Amino acid sequence: MSRPYDLVLFGATGYTGGLTAEYLAQHAPPATRWALAGRSPAKLEAVRARLAALNPACAALDLIQADVGDAAALAKLAQSTRVVLTTVGPYIHYGEPLVAACAAAGTHYADLTGEPEFVDLMWLRYHQQAQQTGARIVHCCGFDSIPHDLGAYFTVLQLPAGVPLRVEGFVRAGGGFSAGTYHSAVNAFGRIREYAKVAKQRRAREQYPQGRKIGSTRQRVHYERSLGTWVVPFPSVDPQMVRRSAAALDRYGPEFRYGHYVQVKKLGSVAALIGGVSALFTLAQAGPTRRWLLSRKTSGEGPTPEQRAKSWFRVRFHGEGGGRKVTVDVKGGDPGYGETAKMLAESALCLAHDALPDRSGQLTTAAAMGDALLVRLQRAGISFEVVAQ
Ligand SMILES: NC(=O)c1ccc[n+]([C@@H]2O[C@H](COP(=O)([O-])OP(=O)(O)OC[C@H]3O[C@@H](n4cnc5c(N)ncnc54)[C@H](OP(=O)(O)O)[C@@H]3O)[C@@H](O)[C@H]2O)c1
Repeated sequence: MSRPYDLVLFGATGYTGGLTAEYLAQHAPPATRWALAGRSPAKLEAVRARLAALNPACAALDLIQADVGDAAALAKLAQSTRVVLTTVGPYIHYGEPLVAACAAAGTHYADLTGEPEFVDLMWLRYHQQAQQTGARIVHCCGFDSIPHDLGAYFTVLQLPAGVPLRVEGFVRAGGGFSAGTYHSAVNAFGRIREYAKVAKQRRAREQYPQGRKIGSTRQRVHYERSLGTWVVPFPSVDPQMVRRSAAALDRYGPEFRYGHYVQVKKLGSVAALIGGVSALFTLAQAGPTRRWLLSRKTSGEGPTPEQRAKSWFRVRFHGEGGGRKVTVDVKGGDPGYGETAKMLAESALCLAHDALPDRSGQLTTAAAMGDALLVRLQRAGISFEVVAQ
C-alpha cells in the first residue's frame, strides 16, 4: 500500500491495450488505484477521455509517460505500482526493459506474449532476481495461454490425485487478428534459430521436479472421432505453459502427459493450414520478404466491433487417469481481443487483490493464480465446464 497505484496499464494507446483499458474502466473495483501509461501523452489523454465516457471516475486517472527505450522512466513506473500489465509488443522487441524493471522493483507483471523465445529469454535473465524480490512475472495472460493452461489445470482437478494423468487439448476458434498479433507472429517465425538457442540454454539450466515425469503425448494428424473433425498438432507456446504448470504443481501427479491440437473440419483445410503457415514461415526468413510481410498491417489496426461480436473459441480437453475419464470445455467469445483483454485485466486484478500461493519468479498463470483466476474468469463469463465423465 506504500505504492501510489495497484495497477498500471502500459500500452493503453494500442488496439488490445485500449480494450483492456475499457474493461478495467467498467470492471475494476472502485477502490482500485490505477493509471494509464504509454509513450505519447496526447494519445493517453484521448484514451482517458474515451474511458471517462464509459465511467466518469476515469476522468481522474493519472497518465504516466514512458518509452521502452527510457530505463529510468520504466524503473519509476515499476516502483510506483504493485502490478504492471503490458500490451506493448512484439515483446521480443519491446518487452525486456519492463520485465527488468519489475523484477528489480519486486513488482508483479502480466503480459500478452505468445512468443516462446521471449518467455525463455526472460526466464534466463530475470527469474532468479524476481524470486529474490518477490515479483511474480506472469507471461501469456491472453488467449495465449490462459484457456489452455487453466483449462488443463481445471481438467486435472477433476481427476484423482497421486496417479499418472494424460490430458489432450483441442482448440477451435473463429475471429480476426490485429496488427500487433500479426507482427509478433511474423517476427517469431523469422527468429527460429535465436529461439532454438535460447530454448536450449533454458533446458540446460532449468531444474525438473524430482521423482516426477512431465512430457507430451504421441501426437500426429488424425481424424478425432469424438469431435468429428481432423486434428493437427499445434506446437505453440500453449503446450509449453501447460507442461510448466505441471512441473510446478504436484497436483498434476507423478507422470503427466499433454498433447495440444488445433481442430480442422475438412482434410483439405489441413493441407491449407499447413501450406499457409509454411508459406508465412518461409517468407519470414529473409529480411526483405519479412519487411514486406510486416508492412501489410499498421500498428493499432484490428477487427471491428462487429467482427469481434461474431468471434468465439472452444478448447475441449480429454483427461484420463486412475481409472477415470473426463471431458471439459473452455468457451468464450472473441478469443484474440475481447476475451484476451478480459483475461489480462482479470489477471492483473487477481495479482493485485487476491490471496495467492506464496510463489515468485517467472510463473505460469496456473502456478501464479490457479484457483483465484479460475473463479474470476468464470464470474466474468468464460466458461470452464465438465461436459462428460
Ligand atoms: N497472446 C494473445 O492472445 C494476444 C492477443 C492479442 C494481442 N497480443 C499481443 O499484444 C501485443 C499488442 O498487440 P496490439 O495489436 O494491441 O498492438 P498495437 O495496436 O500495435 O499496440 C502496440 C502498443 O505498443 C506501444 N509501443 C510501441 N512502441 C513503444 C515504445 N517504444 N514505448 C512505449 N510503447 C510503445 C504502442 O504505443 P503508440 O500507440 O504510442 O504507438 C501501442 O500502445 C502484441 O505483441 C500481440 O501479439 C497477444
